[in-house]
Amino acid sequence: MSTTIPYDLAELNAALQESLFSGKVHFLPETGSTNTLAMQAATAGVEEGTVIFTDQQTAGRGRNGHNWHSEPGAAILVSIVLRPKILPTQSLWLSLMAGVAMHDAILRTCGIACDLRWPNDLLIERKKVCGVLTEISADAEQLRFAVIGIGVNVNQPSFPGEIAGFATSLQMETGKQWSRTELLAAMLKSLETQYRGALTTEGEQALLCRVESISSYVRGKRVHVDEAGGYDGVTDGLDARGFLRVRTAESMRTVLSGGVRES
Ligand code: BTN
Repeated sequence: MSTTIPYDLAELNAALQESLFSGKVHFLPETGSTNTLAMQAATAGVEEGTVIFTDQQTAGRGRNGHNWHSEPGAAILVSIVLRPKILPTQSLWLSLMAGVAMHDAILRTCGIACDLRWPNDLLIERKKVCGVLTEISADAEQLRFAVIGIGVNVNQPSFPGEIAGFATSLQMETGKQWSRTELLAAMLKSLETQYRGALTTEGEQALLCRVESISSYVRGKRVHVDEAGGYDGVTDGLDARGFLRVRTAESMRTVLSGGVRES
């Protein structure tokens, strides 16, 4: 159990004045999953920029049906409602954009340049420090809304059991505790910057270049892909929509949503 530095809501609100999130930030001491709550709130019509965050999740969800473990008060657990006017098929860029934004916020606040494992895991020395779960509601032509759920391991002194093999925290990497208020404010500001930038056609291309520049996974990485029964290959860049290309012994394949890990 770690000692918890509580959020300072006044400081957070002050830092977010004049941002997309101003006056739309909601804190709950505990909830099942901020993504589940945000999806419900978005369905009920809350504004773009609504933020829900908590100190503890009892049913945190990760990508590909995994759970997201969190110790009370140590992590940033936040979900953001966005309403971009894009096709449902363009929603990958939301995930990429969120990964880049979190990379930049951690770099600016803590001085750590994480590696980005496609599409948006942030790693320090091959261990995961931040994960993003993007969920959407859409009809055939247009996205109704997206919820970007972000978990950052901040002040955990250690992890239990098998999680210890693949997770790390900012405290474990730097030996000091970090202000979750300051980091959350930086994350949201960075998300707004990336979001506004990526909404343009040029921004979309710039985003893909940026992903390449901060990720050791995009080119020349030997990986295993948990998709279509699982396969191995070497990464070979992103296609025009941001999907990861992997050269196998037989052909060039495109990873659509499966987990990618170094092999
Ligand atoms: C992943 O598998 O890497 C994605 C993890 C996303 C976890 C965050 S924590 C806040 C939000 N609420 C959830 O239930 N999941 C996301």
